[in-house]
Amino acid sequence: MHAKAGNILRLFRSEDGYISGEHLSRELGVSRTAVWKHISALRKNGYHIEAVPSRGYRLMSSPDSIDPHEVKTQLDSTIIGRRLEFLKITISTNADAFRLAEEGATEGTVVLADAQNGGKGRRGRIWASPAGANLYCSVILRPAIMPYEAPQLTFLSAVAVARAIELTTKLTPEIKWPNDLLISGKKIAGLLNEMSAETDGINFVILGIGVNLNMKAEQFPENLRHPATSLFLESGTRVDRSIFTSTMLNELDRLYTDFLSYGFGPIREEWQLRCNANGRQVFVSDTGTECTGGLFMGIDSDGAMLLRSDDDVLHRITCGDVRVI
Ligand code: BTN
Repeated sequence: MHAKAGNILRLFRSEDGYISGEHLSRELGVSRTAVWKHISALRKNGYHIEAVPSRGYRLMSSPDSIDPHEVKTQLDSTIIGRRLEFLKITISTNADAFRLAEEGATEGTVVLADAQNGGKGRRGRIWASPAGANLYCSVILRPAIMPYEAPQLTFLSAVAVARAIELTTKLTPEIKWPNDLLISGKKIAGLLNEMSAETDGINFVILGIGVNLNMKAEQFPENLRHPATSLFLESGTRVDRSIFTSTMLNELDRLYTDFLSYGFGPIREEWQLRCNANGRQVFVSDTGTECTGGLFMGIDSDGAMLLRSDDDVLHRITCGDVRVI
């Protein structure tokens, strides 16, 4: 897509209603014939743009695809998205990003795919990744932190996804420790952080982010361990995948630049406020420790959950399944 066409889309989205050809040509610094050509090209790419004499143009609907050029034109980031790779189909964007990082790809490189046929979930699970529906994204970061601090970046991406959902829908997600995003108690997004490290520092971290955007009920695998949902199923409205992607990457950039300046503190605070266990009693199964229940006291700097049991002992929980009582 031509950059000017991307600008036209941005204007459509910033102003509700019709925009005159004259206004578009002035804003873009091109002739009205050029505006018309860009509108025609957008229509060929699946955008439904209505034209009404004496009122102008209006964007009625967008194609259900992720358009990397549109994502790029809507980025206002400084680090995230400096380089953006888009693949129609791949095995796993995390595997692609890992390989690119090993080859020296710059910090902020983003790999996006329309579909994955080997999408990886946590604990060796498979992440359902059909085409034309969701967000599958992996981001390369190279912060100067110690390996034990790397989980902080997964917490950071959970906050970025939560913010993006709130900015693009009327839904309010909750975060379930360690890093699942839920809506109405059902999983809406998953995060898979992978890293290459030495004992005294990390080479790079891959933030793998999967968000169920427009997935329909029949597209979910039958044997899911926990119930899952999509933004479409929860709101009844299709999400523009390019807009969601750029919104999420912009939030990721804001959080990451703050993380580099101010550390983990502000992210930890926001994460805790968004956590479904905030201020509540929780029950943890399969922890590998004696503690099974207590008051949620937040997260430690390595991502461990802090629980105060009835006998006033503070426990650090590093694994297990959390149920809010
Ligand atoms: C989880 O199990 O909750 C984590 C799921 C992570 C899925 C994303 S989709 C983009 C990236 N590529 C992958 O193969 N996995 C992550």
